[in-house]
Amino acid sequence: MYKTPSNLPEAARTDIARVLNERLADGLDLHSQIKVAHWNVRGPQFPSLHPLFEQFATQLAVHNDAIAERAVTLGAHAIGTARQVAKGSKLPEYPTDTSRDLDHVKALAERFEVYLGGVREARTLAAEKRDDETVDLLTGVLTEFEKNAWFLRARRLSVVIVAAAIEADRRFGQRATRCEPRGAAEHATEARRVVHRRSVAAVGVQTEAAAPDEGLRSSAS
Ligand SMILES: [Fe+2]
Repeated sequence: MYKTPSNLPEAARTDIARVLNERLADGLDLHSQIKVAHWNVRGPQFPSLHPLFEQFATQLAVHNDAIAERAVTLGAHAIGTARQVAKGSKLPEYPTDTSRDLDHVKALAERFEVYLGGVREARTLAAEKRDDETVDLLTGVLTEFEKNAWFLRARRLSVVIVAAAIEADRRFGQRATRCEPRGAAEHATEARRVVHRRSVAAVGVQTEAAAPDEGLRSSAS
């Protein structure tokens, strides 16, 4: 360890720098995976997801830099070449066959959770070692990326609902045109509600907009 302006004991600085370098490896890996999603995303949600993924990458690059510089400030080397990251990251590799918008959202959401778990553990260690500056730094990372994880979850829900409405039209629209005395529009609307409710359940998010109506289940299943 180098000489440092920090007044923490060397053993504490060594431990904190180690976990900071672990989070740096995760963060650099996640940054590259977000960029892969940004480049390869396809589908109806491309116009919103392409810039959203770029925004995530830009934010994460700033946090990665701050984490690396905190490790150096504590007297350690920052470890962050591509080969070091490949050895040190705890994230799973990004799927290379993914192109559809919803699949990218799901893959990134899963990796955000892994990343956030590591940052929480690092913050706990920094708190135990009474390193308030590192705690503050990691709290900032958590605040921004928990919000980003929520964006992904909300986006996934909205994409699922749009897809469900399209699927409802495909599955029930033709049948609805033959349905008497009900009108086609009324039948299709009911079908959308049923598929919507099932889709919301599938992604595990509760919403009042889903308003289940058991009377609709039998008409559309
Ligand atoms: Fe770009």
